[in-house]
This record gives sequence, structure tokens and C-alpha cells, in this order.
Amino acid sequence: MRKILITSALPYANGSIHLGHLVEYIQTDIWVRFQRLNKHEVHYVCADDTHGTPIMIKAQNENITPEKLIDNVHKEHSKDFEDFFVSFDNFYSTNSNENKFFSEDIFNKLNASEKITSKEIEQFYDPEKEMFLPDRFIKGECPKCNAKDQYGDSCEGCGATYSPTDLINPFSSLSGATPVKKKTKHYFFKLSECEKFLKNWATSGTLQKEAENKIKEWFDSGLQDWDITRDKPYFGFLIPGETDKYFYVWLDAPIGYMASFKNLADNKNLNFDEYWNEKSNTELYHFIGKDILYFHALFWPATLNYSGYRKPTKIFAHGFLTVNGEKMSKSRGTFITARSFLEHVNEPEMLRYYYASKLNDSMVDIDLNFDDMLSKVNSDLVGKLVNIPSRTFGFINKIYNGDLKKLADIDFNLYPNLVNDSIKIREEIMELYEQRLYSQVVKKVFNFVEQANEFISKEEPWALAKDLKTNSDKLLDILTITTYVFRNAIIYLTPIMPKLSDKVALLFNQDTFNSFDEVENLIANVNKYTHLMQRLEKSNIDNMIEANKVKEQKKEIPGKDDMNNLINIDDFLKVDLRVAKIINADYIEGADSLLQIKLDVGNLGEKTVFAGIKSNYNPDVLVGKNTVFVANLQPRKMKFGLSEGMILAASDQEYGPFILYPDDGAKPGMKIK
Ligand code: MSP
Ligand code: ZN
Repeated sequence: MRKILITSALPYANGSIHLGHLVEYIQTDIWVRFQRLNKHEVHYVCADDTHGTPIMIKAQNENITPEKLIDNVHKEHSKDFEDFFVSFDNFYSTNSNENKFFSEDIFNKLNASEKITSKEIEQFYDPEKEMFLPDRFIKGECPKCNAKDQYGDSCEGCGATYSPTDLINPFSSLSGATPVKKKTKHYFFKLSECEKFLKNWATSGTLQKEAENKIKEWFDSGLQDWDITRDKPYFGFLIPGETDKYFYVWLDAPIGYMASFKNLADNKNLNFDEYWNEKSNTELYHFIGKDILYFHALFWPATLNYSGYRKPTKIFAHGFLTVNGEKMSKSRGTFITARSFLEHVNEPEMLRYYYASKLNDSMVDIDLNFDDMLSKVNSDLVGKLVNIPSRTFGFINKIYNGDLKKLADIDFNLYPNLVNDSIKIREEIMELYEQRLYSQVVKKVFNFVEQANEFISKEEPWALAKDLKTNSDKLLDILTITTYVFRNAIIYLTPIMPKLSDKVALLFNQDTFNSFDEVENLIANVNKYTHLMQRLEKSNIDNMIEANKVKEQKKEIPGKDDMNNLINIDDFLKVDLRVAKIINADYIEGADSLLQIKLDVGNLGEKTVFAGIKSNYNPDVLVGKNTVFVANLQPRKMKFGLSEGMILAASDQEYGPFILYPDDGAKPGMKIK
């Protein structure tokens, strides 16, 4: 018995599972189910990938804590996976104690083996949001073609790549402010020193050929040390010994595989070390998309190696999903969530089957063509596979009371030996599954399913049934043979369509098919046929695409151009500006730029705000002054408490902030208009 730990990549906790993701989870799940049928000890773990800036920002925008956000998403993801029969043994979260423990543990061990270094670097900083900006949050004009509104790393207009510093008129996509450069200390993992180890590891059969070639390109262009630090504010784990620096999400994400398994091991009494110890001889496989190969084929094995843990046995990378030949697109309605597919198609196994019929062991992209899918599921599943029992079980039950003939009593010289053929291909099918050549599994199985259908058409049981006195024997031969073929096809397809398989098992008085060896089991009798699968209608697909069409949305993010946008007086009057008296002002522990300010706003009562004015004001000088307060701003939960509005101040890149004061005579609570 092999002991196998299998993972799928951890989905980000800031979005829904979509059909692209499902390529991976379905591909992995098929392999997992296959290995379980082989009676190996299999553990399939995954988790939500919960850390990082996008998740933090999304939570802010939704006015909830990141913890609440990832909790909501975890529930949604879990249900999606369950409904597509993705059979994780544990679907956990990277925001867990286990993950914190192993992240710190691995960092400390890397430190001890001198693979961590730190240095001062310059980073773009958003002075308004008071945070360092990841590249993708910096936008500006392309330095090559002057296209506006381009990301910090590459231009969608002309394809040029550059660094954010090259952008013309850069701005923060979070606030619209011009980013400034600021120095900060970052920790780096010395990937450059791991080349020898990685070259060895990557060429020892751990990667597909295509992945190996890719990795060679990376070696050729030289391995760079890896920045594993992000400054606060960040949603993640603090780096040991630091108070405002966090592990970059991609450091703790793969460690999430370990953490999820640790959590499973604790609950199920498994031996964690047996799977992760440096000397482990259990197997570890990661299924991933080709876009995250760099992390899994370089950083991950290197961090494991230099922190004394086992390395992956193999990395299985797959290609990307296109829909109808193009990248999934919200405007075309082809960016389809798992949930939306379930709502419209209602038959998750149709997707599982369609993907399986296209999947193999390569990194080539796969296309979901809806016309093709429609005709494939209708012709293969409904027209051929399910068609066998729907054409035969009625006779077996009505005429023979559900009893089949004994195989030994059939003279196989009279018929094509379909039963034997369907048993003989077992080894081959198993090898194809093992190699992840699912498309060939499907071909092989449907090859004899088709033969069985042709056999039925040729022998015409419905005609034989008309004269039972002469034909009864022959009819039962035919019904028996095709029933065996059908059952065996279903047994082979169990990893791909587990629910259909269970339904069919019930026809044979079994809860479920447990092993490919069951193709040799004899069948004495069958139950009444129950409906197994319905045709997929084109209208379901059309409705789904229509429902997923999103009108091109106006950008939510303020750019420089928005400065030219004019508003009318009604827009302006929406802002409730008031005179407010500062009755208290205080420093906040741990805050670089904020002061906590208490205001008297006349008839509106007392309000507390957090204002980014520490750099220019000593709290003492503020107390007793009147200023301008935005009274109807939605309260915002900040790290240090609830901010119930905003006071106004002026600034530019060099000077400020300068608080606005009304002229003498203005009283707290007065409206400003
Ligand atoms: N959080 C990271 C993975 C961390 S693993 C330690 C991530 N998340 S993801 O949500 O963007 O993607 C999860 C998996 O789904 C990845 O393996 C990714 O390649 C895969 N896919 C996401 N979109 C896909 C397609 N359109 N097509 C095929 N696979 C896709 O990456
Ligand atoms: Zn350009």
C-alpha cells in the first residue's frame, strides 16, 4: 500500500470558485478517487489562501474585518467544492494556528541555515493610505506608448514590461495619490544560493518535461533572491521579532499544505512526521496551474530543503482554461462561477466528464467549448452510456424478474466477447489514470460502450422479445452481456463521475463501487431501472452565458483623470460639512501617522476620528481649535478603533498636511455650505 498526500493549489479567499479553478480541482479529485479505489492510503488536503493585500483591501471595501471576509468565503468555497464532488479530506485555511507555527518554524530554520538575509530597499508608498504599494496597485502612463491607466509591471496596450518607477504620472490605484519612495528593511530568501540543489531536484523526474524546460529558462536568466516581506498594513503573519513586517503571502501559502495536513493529522490521529519528515518515504504530489510553477518548482522545494523537511515527489502542472477559444470574459458571459454552472446546468458531473475527456498530463491550455460540451455529454453520456440500461433493464425486469444468466452458461462463440474485453483493459485503464491521461481513459471506455450499443442495435432485443418462445435464451444472453459491459464501464468511470457511479451501484444492490477489481464480480440480478441522467438543453447553456454577462463597469478606482470630473451643486450638497471643535487629541500607540481626535460637533454631539496629521501636528496645539468636519461619511472601522468621519486638511507631495480652520465666530455644529 502506498501512502500518498495530494494537494490542489489553495484558492484565493477573495473571489468565487469559477470554471477555470475547477479544471484543477476536478483533475486532482479524479486522481485522488482513483488512488483511493486502488486501496492506497490517500490524503487530499487544500485550504483557502487568505493572506495578502487584495484580501485586506476587499475587506476594507466591504466594511468588514478580513477574518469575517475569509470566513464567508470559506463557507462558499466549501459548498462549491462539495457540490462538484471534490472530496478533500481537509479544506482548511492559511489563517490558522498550524500555519502560523510552521511559517515561523520554517523561517527560523532557514535563518539558522543562513538562507535569510535582510536589506534596506526603496518601495513605492501611498502617503494617503499610509501603506507600501504592491506593483499591481500602482498605475500610470506607459513609458513606451503613453497608454493611460496601465499597471506597474506591464502595458496592456503595447506589451512593454517595466518597473513601476518607469511609469509616467504614477498614481496609487487605492487612493489616486502620487506614490512616493520610502526606505524599508526587507527579509529575503537567498534563492540565488539554491541553484545547485534546485537543478538537481528539478531534473530528477519531479517535473513534466515542459515544466523542466521552463525551469531551465529560469536558471539561464539567473535566480534572484526572493523578497518574503511586506510592510504593514498587511493581513498575514508577523515575521518573528518584528512588529510591522509580515510574511509575504506566497511564503505562507504553500506552507498551508503542511498546516492543513497537520490539522487533519491531529483530528484523525495520523502521523504528521511520516509525511513531512526529511527522510519521509511517503509520496507528496501538488497539482497546480502553470501560472504558479515558479513558486512550486523553485521557492517551495528550496524552502523545504533548507528547513529540513521533505520535498514534493512530483509537481503536476496543468494548462489554463479558455472558454469557446478565448480567455474567460465577464463581458462575453464566459467568466462563469461554479455556483452559476450548478444553477443552470444542474449536473456537475457533466463538467467533470467534459474536463476528463480533454485532460492529459500536459501543460497545454484546455478549451471549454459549449457546443462541443453539449454534444459530447448528450451523445456520450445520455446517448451511449446511460442508453444501455435504458434499452435493456426493462426487459430484464419484466421478462426475467431481474435475473441475469450465469456467464458460464453463455456460449461466447456466438457473440463478440465484449465482457472479457471490458475486463481485460483494467490494467491499461489503471495505468492511464496513474499517468493522468484521462482523455484516453474516456476514449478506451467509450470504445467498448459503443461496441455494446452497436451490439444491441444489431441484435434488436425489442424484436427478440416479441417471440420469447424461440428467443428467450438468446435475448437473455444479449441482456446479460450488455449489462456487464455497462457496469464495467461505470466502474472505470467512477473517479470521473462518482455520483452516477453510486446510482448505478444501487442497480446492482451495492452502495458504491469500491475497486476496479469488481469488474470481475459476477452479477446475479439487477434492480429496476431508475432514471440516471437527462439531456442537457442548449437553452440552459445560453441562459447561463446570458446571466453571467457583466456590463463593462465604470472603473471604481480614482485616477488622475477624475480630477477633471465636474460635479453639480447637488453632488456637493451631499457632503455634510460642519464646524467642529477639537476637544481632545492624542498619539496612538503603534500608529505612524495617525492622531486620535475627539470633536464637539454641536447638536450632532461628540465624534472621534483618526486623522493622518501626526507628521505636522503636536496634539497639544490642536486642542481648543475649530476645524472642518465631514459629518455624513460612513463610519470606518480602523485598526485602532471606529473613525466617525473626517476632518479636512490640505497637502501636496512636499508639504502638509495643513488643517482647515473656519474664521472666528464659527460655532461647533454649524453647517458649511
Ligand atoms: N492562491 C494561489 C495558489 C497558492 S498555492 C500554495 C492561487 N490561487 S488562485 O485562486 O488564483 O488559483 C488556484 C488554482 O486554480 C491555481 O492552481 C491556478 O492555476 C488555477 N486556476 C485559476 N484560474 C484558472 C484557469 N482559468 N484555468 C485553469 N486553472 C486556473 O494561484
Ligand atoms: Zn504601452
